[in-house]
Amino acid sequence: MATSVEKEIEKLRAEIRYHEHRYYVLDDPEISDYEFDQLMRKLQDLEREHPELVTPDSPTQRVGGKPAEQFSKVRHQVPMMSLDNTYSVEELRDFDRRVRELSGRSRVEYVAELKLDGLSMSLIYEKGVLARGVTRGNGVEGEDVTANVKTIGSVPLRIDGRKLQVIGHPERFEVRGEVIMPLKMFERLNAQREAAGEPKFANPRNAAAGTIRQLDPKMVAQRKLDMFHYYLLVGGDVPLKEHWKTLEALAEMGFKVNPHRRLCASFDELLEFVQEWETKRNELEYETDGVVVKVNDTRLWEELGNTAKSPRWAIAYKYPAHQATTVVKDIRAQVGRTGTLTPVADLNPVNVGGVTVSHATLHNMDEIARLGLRIGDTVLLQRAGEVIPQVVKVVKRAPDGREFHMPKRCPVCGGDVFRAEGEVAYRCVNAACPARLKESLLHFAARHAMGIDGLGEALVDQLVDRGIVKDAADLYALTQDQLAALERMGKKSAANLISEIEKSKKVDLARVIFAVGIPFVGERTAQLLAEHFGSFDRLAEASEEELEQVHEIGPKTAQGIAEFFAEERNRKLIEKLRAAGVRMEQEKAAKKGPQPLAGKQFVLTGTLPHHSREEASQMIEEAGGRVVGSVSKKTDYVVVGAEPGSKLEKARALGVKTIDEDELLKLLK
Ligand code: IVH
Repeated sequence: MATSVEKEIEKLRAEIRYHEHRYYVLDDPEISDYEFDQLMRKLQDLEREHPELVTPDSPTQRVGGKPAEQFSKVRHQVPMMSLDNTYSVEELRDFDRRVRELSGRSRVEYVAELKLDGLSMSLIYEKGVLARGVTRGNGVEGEDVTANVKTIGSVPLRIDGRKLQVIGHPERFEVRGEVIMPLKMFERLNAQREAAGEPKFANPRNAAAGTIRQLDPKMVAQRKLDMFHYYLLVGGDVPLKEHWKTLEALAEMGFKVNPHRRLCASFDELLEFVQEWETKRNELEYETDGVVVKVNDTRLWEELGNTAKSPRWAIAYKYPAHQATTVVKDIRAQVGRTGTLTPVADLNPVNVGGVTVSHATLHNMDEIARLGLRIGDTVLLQRAGEVIPQVVKVVKRAPDGREFHMPKRCPVCGGDVFRAEGEVAYRCVNAACPARLKESLLHFAARHAMGIDGLGEALVDQLVDRGIVKDAADLYALTQDQLAALERMGKKSAANLISEIEKSKKVDLARVIFAVGIPFVGERTAQLLAEHFGSFDRLAEASEEELEQVHEIGPKTAQGIAEFFAEERNRKLIEKLRAAGVRMEQEKAAKKGPQPLAGKQFVLTGTLPHHSREEASQMIEEAGGRVVGSVSKKTDYVVVGAEPGSKLEKARALGVKTIDEDELLKLLK
């Protein structure tokens, strides 16, 4: 007999599943994000009180568990084939002819679907519950990435029993489809990577593939992947007689199926679909590089059979990479959300595969140098898959071509432009630059920064575009009425946000330092700065030399910090935050004990007899010492336990003093 708690939990889960489906699959939510979060929180609370009732298919379990060490290999029940490709309508016609000849039919129905540019994925459901997600791998054997796949909102964790009726309630079935990264997420991810000095992903497909192979599901969850489903197998067979019916059944079961599909009664209808999407695909929020054509009658699939690698009942028609040449009229710097100045080419408008192009990104100064590009040159443009055209090369040099130089001042706000040594990107240092403002507000509100829950992208856009918020400090002047008047905000969500903002005034100094977005100052550096300087004022006054004296802070970071505080507007922002009541001082120094190890650097290696690594680190840090990961000349002591690693050898090679646990305990006294 189910207890009332069990019933309540089940009811909540069903409700959440319903809303997940509305939001992630149908793209048509019925309730606000806030209301959804409330449901989720309620379920989390109940599950925390009754951990014995947590099941792996609970909506709370989308992001769970520890990072994986590695992925295990799984053999596919039915190999995952790839598709034959063609770029020509003639070959598409040949395909139709071949299908008709082989099947002995004069006319064949086709299903046209978009070819989604991501990576294929196999989902195994057992008793209606998602049991496993496996990558395509080499087609025969893939990798088990279940924990990562569960973070994808459009992948159902369980299918309602009633909905399995269409396919006869099998114990086990398999659904295949394509995991993609929406363009918006892709751009955001690359902007973040650029800001962090990490290499950018070349296209959304690589970004999606890289993400699904992340070992930490929490990272995957942040990247907001999506999945479209197009294939169903029961007992290794295709259960329905028509592929079109399979797509409908999948949608009925709660899977996200791409809406842009057509059942074509003739080759001409197929061609129409292909031509229609050649330009329409540019308006989608994700990338497609062609159309997949499949024979609708699945009984014909077996008859037609496969070649070594691909089925004879399907073909991928790929849109050609579009190219055109035009003149670069000018090059200017565009300020992105992270303050990075990106050189953009203004072009003589030109038609590239049905789209008029008048700008192209040049990425950075290195790229301009690589192309040898000057203003006035004629260039070859290409738009393949991606929306933004690339400059492939200079085809004709202008005799009077002008070189482009990065401006010394930000073209949007006039703030100083700064390029750190060893970095490719130039940045505007002004935190109040409108182009930067949106991203900096999102960063400011983020969980590990001020932790203002509910301040999302849609809201930030409205606040900035309407001129309500001009810097992060303005958030503290927002009123409930102001917020309630915005789109997609109710009274309740407004009140909630106000209380979140109020609450954020009390976060630790380290989080405030992290939140204001000083170049190169991540969470850990912010913590070190807060501990070292104890207040925003002292940090702001520190010279580069003083900053470099803080352990772990190098010249690049020190310069970034100094330049940040040299900017008048940034100083004003700090003043406004202070006036708003945000904490600007370290909370009274935690009652510190004696600091016998002040200034000493330690490295731990091997297993200590009486203390775990964490305990040892904590003791050292409480005594004023620091524990770092690798041995260098700066290391004062290497603490050696049983079965030490290569760190011991390195210590010996560098002549660093080695001690055991006993000796460490003596030092601590
Ligand atoms: S059907 C046996 N449908 O394209 C055929 N594939 O080049 C199974 N793809 O590996 C694939 N969109 O990753 C199919 N609507 C679609 C697709 C699609 C993208 C990918 C898939 C496949 C690759 C083949």
